[in-house]
Amino acid sequence: MPSERRSDTSSDALIELHDVSRAYRAGSKDVTVLQDVSLRVHEGEFVSIVGPSGSGKSTLLNLITGIDRPTSGQIFVAGQPIHQMGENELARWRGLNVGIIFQFFQLLPTLTILENVVLPIDFARPYAAVPGPRKAKERAMDLLDMVDIADQAHKLPDTLSGGQQQRAAVARALANDPPLIVADEPTGNLDTATAEGVFALFQQLVGRGKTVVIVTHDRRLSARTERILHLLDGRLHRDQDNGGSAGPSSAGSAVVADPILTPYVSRFTPHVSRPTFHALRFTPYVSDATLQASDSVLPTPKDGL
Ligand SMILES: Nc1ncnc2c1ncn2[C@@H]1O[C@H](COP(=O)(O)OP(=O)(O)OP(=O)(O)O)[C@@H](O)[C@H]1O
Ligand SMILES: [Mg+2]
Repeated sequence: MPSERRSDTSSDALIELHDVSRAYRAGSKDVTVLQDVSLRVHEGEFVSIVGPSGSGKSTLLNLITGIDRPTSGQIFVAGQPIHQMGENELARWRGLNVGIIFQFFQLLPTLTILENVVLPIDFARPYAAVPGPRKAKERAMDLLDMVDIADQAHKLPDTLSGGQQQRAAVARALANDPPLIVADEPTGNLDTATAEGVFALFQQLVGRGKTVVIVTHDRRLSARTERILHLLDGRLHRDQDNGGSAGPSSAGSAVVADPILTPYVSRFTPHVSRPTFHALRFTPYVSDATLQASDSVLPTPKDGL
């Protein structure tokens, strides 16, 4: 099938899903966990996904990031047809375009906080014009400063509080300045006051022009996002416009120039060797097994851009 690139100028959607379904094989039958979901999310929106346990929230998020694949339907993110992309291409694409934050932080335990934030930049260096090692460190420090934990930069993750670790995960998600930030229950493991601080960070990111999509069980938090997607039994039960108070409106809004989040990555992806692809699979975003792999998967940093 020829590759499609979304060039429909009538749509300024950052995320587009068309009739997306996801089924799993259970014994001799297929169980559909997400059914015919169609939606658009525009640049700069702050969206929450809510619904009962098992309603398909994580599945939907994993489809948007390309971690999971639809059984049928189409998914475009930042104009790319991610339902058609191969694993290697997806890994490269994800590293530049999506920042992912998990409930349990998933920082690599043997790397310092600073090294955890530098890691996505190191991974991207072989195929994109990201800063060299020294500049990458400076950028990581700026991001840690932005999330208020610069003083923790040289510590290992497990010496930090949960809230501090989640702040580090937010900084890591921003390392390559992706347009899209997604988070699955990012405050699910935090007390109310700490959760509030992390939520405020998301509001800040939306204010800086990022698109943020979070899954949450916390009604007080979802009530403060601009739009709430309600899932029920794998269907988009309700798409609720919740007002535009969380950040700038999407259409025509000027993105505020930001010294920390100014884009610097050249989004071109030429030829990448197999070993590089292999290393990219071990992004800090994938699974618990990744955590065991830790620093042995670090690619040799290459100088220059
Ligand atoms: N790999 C899989 N194989 C089979 N079924 C799966 C798989 N992953 C998810 N499911 C099923 O899909 C359904 C939706 O799961 P999902 O994790 O998306 O729910 P959720 O809304 O995120 O729930 P929670 O609030 O508990 O995190 C569940 O019934 C789950 O058991
Ligand atoms: Mg879930």
